[in-house]
Amino acid sequence: MALYRKFIFVCTGSDCKKNGCKGLLKEAKDVIKLDDHKGKYKLVKTKCMDFCKTGPVVVVSNEVIKKADKMKLKMALDAHK
Ligand code: FES
Repeated sequence: MALYRKFIFVCTGSDCKKNGCKGLLKEAKDVIKLDDHKGKYKLVKTKCMDFCKTGPVVVVSNEVIKKADKMKLKMALDAHK
């Protein structure tokens, strides 16, 4: 296990659940298993982050990704390598 990993925070509050955060969590797990991201990230489920209207919400390196999906997450991870 690497000594240093970046955290990816995925909101699992009630509004984000309605907007599909469970599917997004699965997709995020797939993304961080890709070759160039493998072992570098840790997924953390959070409670509401107060961006409910724009859920599902993901935070990567202090960047809030609203209405997150697999593509937006991939782009954010590539931008914050
Ligand atoms: S429920 Fe996800 S930001 Fe509020």
